[in-house]
Amino acid sequence: MPPSARLAAHRSAFRSALLGWYDERKRDLPWRTHPSLYKTVVSEFMLQQTQVKTALPYFDRWIRELPDFTTLAAASEDRVLKLWEGLGYYRRARNLRRLAQALVAIHPAPSTAEAWGDLPGVGPYTAAAITSIAFGAAEACVDGNVVRTLARLTADARPHRNGTSAARSLAPLARDLLDPHRPGDHNQAMMELGATVCLRHNPQCLQCPAAPWCSARASGDPERFPLLAPKAVERIEVVRAWCEHDRHLLLHRAKGESRR
Ligand code: ADE
Repeated sequence: MPPSARLAAHRSAFRSALLGWYDERKRDLPWRTHPSLYKTVVSEFMLQQTQVKTALPYFDRWIRELPDFTTLAAASEDRVLKLWEGLGYYRRARNLRRLAQALVAIHPAPSTAEAWGDLPGVGPYTAAAITSIAFGAAEACVDGNVVRTLARLTADARPHRNGTSAARSLAPLARDLLDPHRPGDHNQAMMELGATVCLRHNPQCLQCPAAPWCSARASGDPERFPLLAPKAVERIEVVRAWCEHDRHLLLHRAKGESRR
């Protein structure tokens, strides 16, 4: 039986082992204690390109200063950018403010991934994360950590061009495994497993609740998965020549050439 069929055959044992592990071991993160739609949205925007430990102090300060969608919608862009300063990818902060301005005009807030996908800064991953966590929608999230975990569970031998195409190929498996009774916790458990146990290097298989069904572990070389093409490195050589007289540029030539 192929590894993904074997895993699917044990789907319910896998789900309960994963959720049992999550209930016992999950990190105590501020968007998980007293959760709200607002905290879910802010955390998902911050975590789009940032690790949990980096986002934590920003998240706490943000919630103190801008505690809800109404306050955020009314805040100036300068204030919002100041609170985001240091997290990078500032487009996320601008979009989060625009999202709050859109949401305060919609009652009730949308609850489907499709509707969230039309809002500023919300791509398919963020829409799935927000709606599964805040509304219990049966939407599977596939981020880099989840790609790694799923590829290992099934010893996925397909070479993937990059993380995005790997996520696309593994999405049907993610949907098939998703626990329909607790989709938000299931998604967060998969993220948590990738971030804390199924590490890129030195995966902690002895602590993994999914070890009994993991084909990469059975292969003896879990780090081999996922099979991602090495990033293409492009060498660019630029040749410049110029001619000046009395601090005036008389002639300028530039020749760019790119080589693999
Ligand atoms: N990465 C993205 N969303 C997350 C969440 N809710 N918890 C932990 N890591 C995440």
